Amino acid sequence: MPDVLITENEIEARVVELAREIDDDYATSDELILVGVLKGSFIFLADLARRLKVTHRVEFIAVSSYGESEDTTHSGAVRLLMDVRLDVSGKDVLIVEDIVDSGTTLEYLYRVLKARAPRSLKTATLLRKPDRLQVEVEVNYLGFDIPDVWVVGYGLDWAERYRTLPYIGKIDPGG
Ligand code: PRP
Repeated sequence: MPDVLITENEIEARVVELAREIDDDYATSDELILVGVLKGSFIFLADLARRLKVTHRVEFIAVSSYGESEDTTHSGAVRLLMDVRLDVSGKDVLIVEDIVDSGTTLEYLYRVLKARAPRSLKTATLLRKPDRLQVEVEVNYLGFDIPDVWVVGYGLDWAERYRTLPYIGKIDPGG
């Protein structure tokens, strides 16, 4: 099994803190929409949403990187595979990601949703790899900055494996 990078307890404690911050920041909002980015965010989103006291709705969006099938690294271009069902104009939108790697996906989604005139638009991610960032993208709610290692678990996969590990593990895909 993958070596542990972040334990289940550490994740839970951080999710509780993030939920508190979000509760405080959106205390006066009755229009908060969490937009989970499939597939990786599904566990983080589920845990975060269940910790929130503020009224919210859950939506999902799915994207794909061009060239993904030939190459497991991202080519830089992103396309929308599945859109949210709700009109987000005038709403408080919070994009929920599992990981920001190059930043390409989050930057793309930010632009797509911003164009729909939400009342506010913010971003949350459980993990970020500062050493890999290629595009500038603001993260408003961050779980953990991590080193440039291949991570799995808690929603993140390696060739669809390990998504439901309860912790963040690291693997060596070549080893
Ligand atoms: C991962 C992750 C982010 C994105 C981050 O998704 O869930 O959406 O890559 O990378 P970036 O910052 O370089 O854009 P992936 O394409 O692996 O799909 P999945 O969530 O369905 O596993």
